Amino acid sequence: GSTRFYDFKVQMLEVNKLCNTRNIVTINQKYPGPVVYAQEDDRVIVKLTNESPYNATIHWHGVRQMLSCWSDGPSYITQCPVQPGQTFTYEFTLTSQKGTLFWHAHFSWLRATVYGALIIYPKTGVPYPFKQPYEEHIVILGEYWLQDLVQLEKTVMASGTSGPVADAYTINGHPGPKYNCSANDVYKIDVLPGKTYMLRLIGALLNMESFFSIANHKLTIVEADGEYTKPFTTDRVMLGPGHTLNVLVMADQKIGRYSMAMGPYMFDDNLAVKTIMDGLRSLEVGNVPKEIDTNLFFTIGINVNKCGSKTPKQNCQGVHGGVMAASMNNNSFIKPDIPILQAYYDHIKGHYTEDFPGSPLKFYDFVNGAPNSPPNNTGSTYGTRTKVLEYGSRVQLILQDTGTLSTENHPIHLHGYSFYVIGYGSGNYNPQTASFNLVDPPYMNTIGVPVGGWAAIRFVADNPGVWAMHCHLEIHFDWGLSVALIVKNGKGPMETLPHPPPDMPHC
Ligand code: C2O
Repeated sequence: GSTRFYDFKVQMLEVNKLCNTRNIVTINQKYPGPVVYAQEDDRVIVKLTNESPYNATIHWHGVRQMLSCWSDGPSYITQCPVQPGQTFTYEFTLTSQKGTLFWHAHFSWLRATVYGALIIYPKTGVPYPFKQPYEEHIVILGEYWLQDLVQLEKTVMASGTSGPVADAYTINGHPGPKYNCSANDVYKIDVLPGKTYMLRLIGALLNMESFFSIANHKLTIVEADGEYTKPFTTDRVMLGPGHTLNVLVMADQKIGRYSMAMGPYMFDDNLAVKTIMDGLRSLEVGNVPKEIDTNLFFTIGINVNKCGSKTPKQNCQGVHGGVMAASMNNNSFIKPDIPILQAYYDHIKGHYTEDFPGSPLKFYDFVNGAPNSPPNNTGSTYGTRTKVLEYGSRVQLILQDTGTLSTENHPIHLHGYSFYVIGYGSGNYNPQTASFNLVDPPYMNTIGVPVGGWAAIRFVADNPGVWAMHCHLEIHFDWGLSVALIVKNGKGPMETLPHPPPDMPHC
């Protein structure tokens, strides 16, 4: 592959939307941000220069970062934020990766405006495994807020109440005619009758999952999270924050205007989502681990926090001495004050622990539990608690939602890996009745765990480093719906985390 260089400057941009003028954080004063174009196996080098008054980092969402954990981007997991006036250079190789991915800020709530597409074309001369579309368009679903996002995060966390709702939902940054003062702030695609178009859909949403559809037109999914899928035709698709989907649309209706629309995900739509998940099949059948040696259960819940002396204040206000918090295995993740990767690499003690708890649901609960029965103990513990995996472990992970309060599914994103989604269902996971697809499961980086349901994923832990796994609804991430996986080094040089780059920012 070749090397692609990009210059990313974090800069403020004055925009006028929804009858308001405000300054938003952007890359290179573009909103949405610049598209990064590359080809499979290329090396990508992005120099980030922070010319804004905010801290910033960039995460390359869906890039597997083989042996380049230092360039992954989540603040306090792999790096300190890049402070105003500082620079940091991200470098990684798109090994065996192609398709639609995206990049976004991974500090506070800045990703609400700091995001853009990452388009990876197949190698020269390698066609798409479907009819070459007449044209391609990037379609990014986003949220627009009239408030300062860093301040908003602080306010929401201090209030201890559930998250606020965006002021507008946007397509490529355009709110569209539903909103005040945006009758002409609309994203349009002109199409020719009879031609087929490929839309690269990106869920750059902050706190909501969204449906997307086009009036009178069918959508044929051909790629999900940057991996080809067997064509699957549907009226509408659902994208959680963190999902990308390529869909083909044929301009097969009579000449006219057809609206492209997005709308929030509702509880009742679980079935539609399940239909899509059941319909997604990998086209290029991969190496699904047939045997496993590490079988993990993670529950996902919105719990009531017990407020102890060590509890961070933001988690401890509200009625009954506690507030809603989010957790995995009843642990509410606390972001550390220095990056876990640095503490791990330099053996600095006291910033994280390796005692991520096991599932509060026991195996027999999965067999006998009534659907949607939450664990008996719904109080959370707290801590920067990590789960350590041996190099090369063949991991099966059952993600069980125990939510009784939430109505949306949880888009769980794993950094540093894609995983096979081998099973998906409602109610409690039951090992006796669950059926797994080990033949052609989709290979994804984000999985919407259905409310009151479960998802089963498999991957081989062959990329050493510290990798965040978290709900991609930003408010849930803040509430602690997160864990860091530490994947230890193997024996060979290609199994060992490299040294940090010299320009790593300091906290
Ligand atoms: Cu796209 Cu940790 O996020």
